[in-house]
Amino acid sequence: MASETATQKIKLPAPRYDGKVSVEKAMHLRRSIRSYKLEPLSLNNISQLLWAAQGKTSPRGYRTAPSAGALYPLEVYFFAFDVTGLDEGVYQYFPNEHAIAMTRKGNVREDLCKSSLNQSPVRHAPAVFVISAVFERTIIKYGQRGERYVQIEAGHAAQNICLQAVSEGMGTVVVGAFLDHEINALLNSIPEARPLYIIPAGVPAE
Ligand SMILES: Cc1cc2nc3c(=O)[nH]c(=O)nc-3n(C[C@H](O)[C@H](O)[C@H](O)COP(=O)(O)O)c2cc1C
Repeated sequence: MASETATQKIKLPAPRYDGKVSVEKAMHLRRSIRSYKLEPLSLNNISQLLWAAQGKTSPRGYRTAPSAGALYPLEVYFFAFDVTGLDEGVYQYFPNEHAIAMTRKGNVREDLCKSSLNQSPVRHAPAVFVISAVFERTIIKYGQRGERYVQIEAGHAAQNICLQAVSEGMGTVVVGAFLDHEINALLNSIPEARPLYIIPAGVPAE
């Protein structure tokens, strides 16, 4: 599903631009969290994590994470398994409108687990984020070096999600071990996109 053709966009609640946890504290507290309470996430939680990953922060189109040549190759998706106010399914984030659109309806937890080598955080998290990238957007300008830039950018976006999660009372773990083609099929993503990182998120169990 191409960004331009995704339908029925759902506007997200506005993100907050201030919080009670300093950047230093969030960095100090961040740990890979692999067990979550059986508690739903709110739409505000989802809004904040998506904004942290790729939110628009300037009328000129700049975003929360830096991007080589401001070409923005990243596409952020998430699997909603237990999010208050959202049907179960897969959603794509649209930074310009701070909106999401469903790309697949229903619960595909079992398939997602298998495609993520049965890792337990993927099995139990109320939401699982995926950072994908359209490499060509960057390679067209920077050639093969663009490959490196895109992967670096995924790291920026992922760290933003992880630190924002801490400040929202959530926990995350970044997952690099998964089967790209299977994840792409589950996302029903734009065909040129390749998944780079999976990030389960939830309220920490401990
Ligand atoms: C590129 C990358 C890939 C990772 N892949 C996985 C993974 O597939 N599964 C997992 O449980 N943790 C994964 N991790 C998380 C690391 O295991 C974790 O960051 C490390 O143990 C340090 O712990 P901390 O994050 O709590 O500081 C990955 C981390 C990175 C940076």
